Amino acid sequence: RLRVLSGIQPTAGSFHLGNYLGAVRQWVALQESHDAFYMVVDLHAITVPQDPAELRANTRLATAQLLAAGVDPDRSALFVQSHVAEHAQLAWVMNCLTGFGEASRMTQFKDKSARQGADRTTVGLFTYPVLQVADILLYQAHQVPVGEDQRQHIELTRDIGERFNTRFGDTFTIPEPYILKETAKIYDLQDPTIKMSKSASSPKGLINLLDDPKATAKKVKSAVTDTDTVIRYDPVEKAGVSNLLTIMSVLTETPIADLEKSYEGKMYGALKTDLAEVMVDFVTPFRTRTQEYLDDPETLDKILAKGAEKARVVAAETLAQTYERIGFLSAR
Ligand code: TYM
Repeated sequence: RLRVLSGIQPTAGSFHLGNYLGAVRQWVALQESHDAFYMVVDLHAITVPQDPAELRANTRLATAQLLAAGVDPDRSALFVQSHVAEHAQLAWVMNCLTGFGEASRMTQFKDKSARQGADRTTVGLFTYPVLQVADILLYQAHQVPVGEDQRQHIELTRDIGERFNTRFGDTFTIPEPYILKETAKIYDLQDPTIKMSKSASSPKGLINLLDDPKATAKKVKSAVTDTDTVIRYDPVEKAGVSNLLTIMSVLTETPIADLEKSYEGKMYGALKTDLAEVMVDFVTPFRTRTQEYLDDPETLDKILAKGAEKARVVAAETLAQTYERIGFLSAR
């Protein structure tokens, strides 16, 4: 069986529709056919300032949402990054194999540090992608299900993994990004030229899965489209409508061509009304399930403990091999 690994930040609170359609939905599908490792990346979260109580609550909240979305802890290892010490340990090794210039070219770092200002940017934010490299290589993952915005980090992982293998002998599996074309980038509902995100989207352009379903329906109905009237998939000329068609297509498992046909001669309002309903039907049970998991933190923590145990077995083996290859004296 091939291995998949992916991670999501706990910082956000509620997942947004982009997180779900771009990544988490694929996590759920892939656990059927792959050995899956899914984690809440709390080490990554502290690259920007965090309130301890909020971080703790958000880590449980992220876990509850992953379970509500369908991640099955019996099939997948579902864990918290800081529970597996090897992430930080392997990250150090990878830091020493990454060029300063190479890390400086990471666009997410450039964007985030520009937003924060140099004085408030931490070294941790700079080496964030290298920690991600360690996350992936540690599990010898073949595939990494993510959205388009993570592609550069997966490419860095491949480069550094290959570098290590060349210098020290075959040690790491070189991973492929697993990015579905259709949902690689879900766009902001108010500005369909930018991706949906916590940091850049306006509240009206961002669909948080845990928001009141009525508010969500309203956001869908007031999504920005264009001055034309034809419901047609054309991401260049009709970015707003195409984004709505993509979301509708995935949530209802209907090919876009079929949707185009069924909306022939209809107005944008018809698509928006239907999508609002589909969205409400999706988020309502999601919210309920998330709350059920949150109401039982003991079970949640047990699931995470079991997940970390599974993860550690693989992580420890890879780290030991890495230390040996690099020339560290054995501790035993
Ligand atoms: P994060 O927490 O920012 O996002 C989680 C996942 O959601 C995807 N995503 C989107 N996909 C489509 N359209 C959007 N608008 C959209 N917005 C977000 C992201 O691509 C991501 O897959 N660095 C990672 C977390 C990470 C990780 C890893 C991922 C840490 N270690 C190892 C994979 C493997 C991040 O910050 O994702």
